[in-house]
Amino acid sequence: MRFHRWCVTLKKEEPGFMNPFLSEESSDKRQSPIDMTEDAFRETGHRLIDDIANFLSSLAKLQVTTAPNPRSLALKLPDMFPVNGMDPSLLVKETWQLLVNNSLLNGHPRFWGYITSSPAPIGILGDLLASAVNSNCGAFVLSPMATEIEKQIIQWLGELIGYQAGGGIMVSGGNMANFVGFLAARKAKAAWDIRKLGLQPSQGTWRVYTSAETHTWISKAMDLFGIGLDAIRWIPVDANQKMNISLLNEKITEDKNQGLMPWLVVGTAGSVGTGAVDALNEIAAICKKHDCWFHVDGAYGGFAAALPELKDLFQGIELADSIAIDPHKWLYSPLEAGCILVKDGRTLTDAFSFHPAYYNFDGEEETNYYERGLQNSRGFRALKVWMGFRQAGAEGHIQMIRDDIMLAKKLFDILNETKEIETCTQHLSITTFRYKPADVDSNDQEYLNKLNQTLLNRLQSGGEVFPSNAVLNENFLLRVCIVNFRTRLSDIESLPAIVLKEGRLIHEEMLRKRAVSK
Ligand SMILES: Cc1ncc(COP(=O)(O)O)c(C=O)c1O
Repeated sequence: MRFHRWCVTLKKEEPGFMNPFLSEESSDKRQSPIDMTEDAFRETGHRLIDDIANFLSSLAKLQVTTAPNPRSLALKLPDMFPVNGMDPSLLVKETWQLLVNNSLLNGHPRFWGYITSSPAPIGILGDLLASAVNSNCGAFVLSPMATEIEKQIIQWLGELIGYQAGGGIMVSGGNMANFVGFLAARKAKAAWDIRKLGLQPSQGTWRVYTSAETHTWISKAMDLFGIGLDAIRWIPVDANQKMNISLLNEKITEDKNQGLMPWLVVGTAGSVGTGAVDALNEIAAICKKHDCWFHVDGAYGGFAAALPELKDLFQGIELADSIAIDPHKWLYSPLEAGCILVKDGRTLTDAFSFHPAYYNFDGEEETNYYERGLQNSRGFRALKVWMGFRQAGAEGHIQMIRDDIMLAKKLFDILNETKEIETCTQHLSITTFRYKPADVDSNDQEYLNKLNQTLLNRLQSGGEVFPSNAVLNENFLLRVCIVNFRTRLSDIESLPAIVLKEGRLIHEEMLRKRAVSK
């Protein structure tokens, strides 16, 4: 109702009528309520930058989160539909307060949840600059330098991890990067003209092989892109959380013998739960033998392939047909920044290129990214990644990833020495463990799962630290994933005492409840 009331169109002679576009006197004096004067922009922007600089330098003193609830947040938002506008400088000030006081601060040195990194300050500036120039990176003509920068960072990212990329594209994150790789594979492996004919009955025989630890993107892709979840062969992992290679080989052979068509194998380079890296070299050999597309999900761990000391662990990544990597994870780019690299650049244009008559984008040697991915209009995501990469250089990034891994290993060692803590896994920069009171048996899974789940909730809402969880063999584990260039040794060393303090309180509460209910 409110919407309809303000939306009434007034006639020129009615009181309250305002020419929405041009003043009567001069068509050159256009009043644009969304514009800002140069002085207002400068002053407001400078103040915002000052606020951001203060915020970044004081992150360690703040709580990771105040864990607000949706209802309390809704009360802080404007309660009136904004019929009339407001002063932009006041708006920026007000919005800054809203966000800084009510957000989860993943730039905090003690944020170790999921796989979200601390944002690099240069990336924050990169995003501001990208918005100011506002290049539409769908086509070269609309984004000449931006397109060349995107091309360059794609090459550099491949070079960083030892992959000869024939092409690639920046996307919003890991899911999208994996989707683009998946669609390139689907097009390349279809023996018929899938663009023209769509999915065919023979597609019912297609099978995809991936470890049971693969991120949920694969299920989404199988569903959304028409193959169906039943066509996934979930290959179990071994005791080190890596895909069991002999089972992979057996399953593919068995399927082929039954007339099914294996077409895609996904290797994970840093699993979302524990950070395990599959035996990529062996998967590559199996793909070659069975003529399958070899896709690597390196959204989290892919950049660790740049570390000389991890060369063996990542061996085979260079053989992938496509690799998803996520600068907004281990290159510390502010959200959003994902990237897909492909060995043969034509596989992207084969899958995504159309040439509508209303585009005049066919200059020689020009790269038009709308032809290489799902998006048409595209923002300049590449800039923050390119600037971050140039600021720290390959060596700087290698050092930061190495430090994160060292801290996660150190945490594992410290926890190993801590009574009432059971350590579980340690891969790359992910360490998993659980709290186990001395008087509870390790096999009492139900009790320990409940205890650790409650503990995680308390830790996450407490604001001192922010771990997340993994589930391994049906055990609920606490999980620390360090993709955080701000984390120091003292942050890591503080964790066991915090876990024990909260864990003991919860254990006591649970015992008390149990005694009452008996
Ligand atoms: C291995 C892996 N793949 C894919 C993704 C999805 O990435 P995004 O959240 O950027 O879409 C993640 C996210 O954590 C991941 O760890």
